[in-house]
Amino acid sequence: MITRRPFIGGNWKMNTDRAAASGLIRGVVDGLVGLQGVDVAVFPPFPYLLTVGAILRERGSAVRLGAQDAYFEGDGAFTGEVSLAMLRDCGVSVVLTGHSERRHVLGESETIVHSKTKAVLAAGLECILCVGERLDEREEGRTDMVNEEQVRLGLREVPPEQVDRLTIAYEPVWAIGTGRTASPADAQDAHLKIRKVLADLYGREVAARIRIMYGGSVKGTNARELFVQQDVDGGLIGGASLKASEFVTIVRAAAQVGMHEARF
Ligand code: PGA
Repeated sequence: MITRRPFIGGNWKMNTDRAAASGLIRGVVDGLVGLQGVDVAVFPPFPYLLTVGAILRERGSAVRLGAQDAYFEGDGAFTGEVSLAMLRDCGVSVVLTGHSERRHVLGESETIVHSKTKAVLAAGLECILCVGERLDEREEGRTDMVNEEQVRLGLREVPPEQVDRLTIAYEPVWAIGTGRTASPADAQDAHLKIRKVLADLYGREVAARIRIMYGGSVKGTNARELFVQQDVDGGLIGGASLKASEFVTIVRAAAQVGMHEARF
């Protein structure tokens, strides 16, 4: 039987300062003591990775250190960019690619998202590839097409032996930071369709193992109804990850729901 363990990510985006980042991670670690059955990662801003990583190590925490972005080249004249080797050196084990703010605010193309996704997985790190439709695309009935295209383009040339390090985050752009959440049924529907695309690319068994998290205005009050959906394997949390108690409530909801048994 294939089971998927829930995975919760806290994407701090361009928030906190050094003191706030330290306080936040201490609060998260304290709130999660003894909790099992769920994988947790936090994604602090680059300048605070070492500070947050040191606190995680000092506390012996299982919370993983993640990066919000990375560049795909190894080294060289790329002013302002950060390489995967540098991130690994800072204790990072999981990297976000294709986040909607990188795609739509910073103008990252599909080609760049693809290069980054490929590089993260090839480097032996875990990758959370984010996909999701904009409001206009949803209103035109193109949600599934957009998700399929972003998954296929993001994973082009990624060999099957690397996808055990892959998580997909379905984040409808209109739900990110807006207080609007996809209904549990809509999220489930999108996740199932994404899983079918993964099955087409890698076979049903591999697809059944890949976690698909939901992102977009997840809070303590709506986490459970989303996570109980068969193909919603946790969440990528933005705003609500900036308050330790709220984030801990969300992680606890995922732990309570527990594993999803893969049906295929
Ligand atoms: P949000 O952000 O929870 O603030 O909507 C989610 C994300 O962008 O990962």
